[in-house]
Amino acid sequence: MTGSESPTASQKIVNSWNEWDTLRHVIVGVADGCCIPPSEPASEPKIPTDSDMRGMHGPRPAETVEKANAQLDNLARVLEERGVKVDRPTPLNFSQAIATPDWETGSMFGCMPPRDVILTVGNEMLEATMSYRSRWFEYLCYRPLLKAYYEQDPNMRHEAAPKPRLTDASYKKDYLSDDITMEERLRMVAAKDFLTTEEEPLFDAADVLRFGRDLVVQHGFTTNLKGIDWLSRHFPNHRVHAVDFPGDAYPIHIDATFTPLRPGLILNNPERRLPDEQRAFFHRNDWEIIDAARPMHNSPPPLCYSSVWLSMNILMVDPKTVCVEETETAQMEQFDKLGFEVLPVPFRDAYPFGGALHCATTDVYRDGDCEDYFPKG
Ligand code: GLY
Repeated sequence: MTGSESPTASQKIVNSWNEWDTLRHVIVGVADGCCIPPSEPASEPKIPTDSDMRGMHGPRPAETVEKANAQLDNLARVLEERGVKVDRPTPLNFSQAIATPDWETGSMFGCMPPRDVILTVGNEMLEATMSYRSRWFEYLCYRPLLKAYYEQDPNMRHEAAPKPRLTDASYKKDYLSDDITMEERLRMVAAKDFLTTEEEPLFDAADVLRFGRDLVVQHGFTTNLKGIDWLSRHFPNHRVHAVDFPGDAYPIHIDATFTPLRPGLILNNPERRLPDEQRAFFHRNDWEIIDAARPMHNSPPPLCYSSVWLSMNILMVDPKTVCVEETETAQMEQFDKLGFEVLPVPFRDAYPFGGALHCATTDVYRDGDCEDYFPKG
């Protein structure tokens, strides 16, 4: 084929411009061999002081891996029954120590939350820089899939953001002490005083939401301003918007905070409201931002990095159908009232491995093209 011919539909493997169009092909994570990595500069302030994860590291117990995999396999089955093609990453030996010329650390993390690592924008799959040392090599778990997509789809772009050095210069020294009050922590977050420095571009893919021509990126612990600037230079045909959520004491990944459901409608975590000046952009374009329902749980499952707000970390199967964790009945009722078909999916056993239904997946193909949902800029 010459460069001027367009690929046939059957050769088009990668295409996804937003979070809601009909899903046809997705990657679902795997829990095998997942580790709690040893402490490193990125991780200490991200683990709440009262968390049972403090001081823990090493491979996760085999029975928890088995239970998580059962729920991940079930999610894959639910999606396949709806006609979605499901691929799975290839785990590495995550318990091995890793090193670059700048640092070494005692283990890797895992390959459960694909959303953190791979950002799909249109025909491109982009490996994020990541911001934890333990997650530096995680992209390798997705390379067999990305290689296959690249070989089958002549228009697919396989890109990798510049690998960061992640020396101590990338993190503020003594950013938070254990005795800091929640009030002080929230004040720092509201002032955009985050853990990572501006030494080099850093972003996790799960800080990015796709709205067609617009990309909305959370500035926080895992993504810095240089990372957001790198994304805007890398996607020159997109508008890239930096957002932050002052109520979130641990701003790591946007998808338990801000969740687009369909054109014109976004769920926002009521404890982490988007500031008024940042809302204006959505309102002027007739988008409604509504509070998510309260979670049904008072605490996350044991050894979990995330908050109870994984309740709103959902997966849109199409603009009318949503996968929700099966115990989150208040969230399900809210979706029901909004006119969505709800697919309840058991998933709490998978939460400790890196998150809920949005985190556990990354898009390969959704119907649709790059639309402008914000014509008033
Ligand atoms: N940032 C993920 C959470 O709220 O748990």
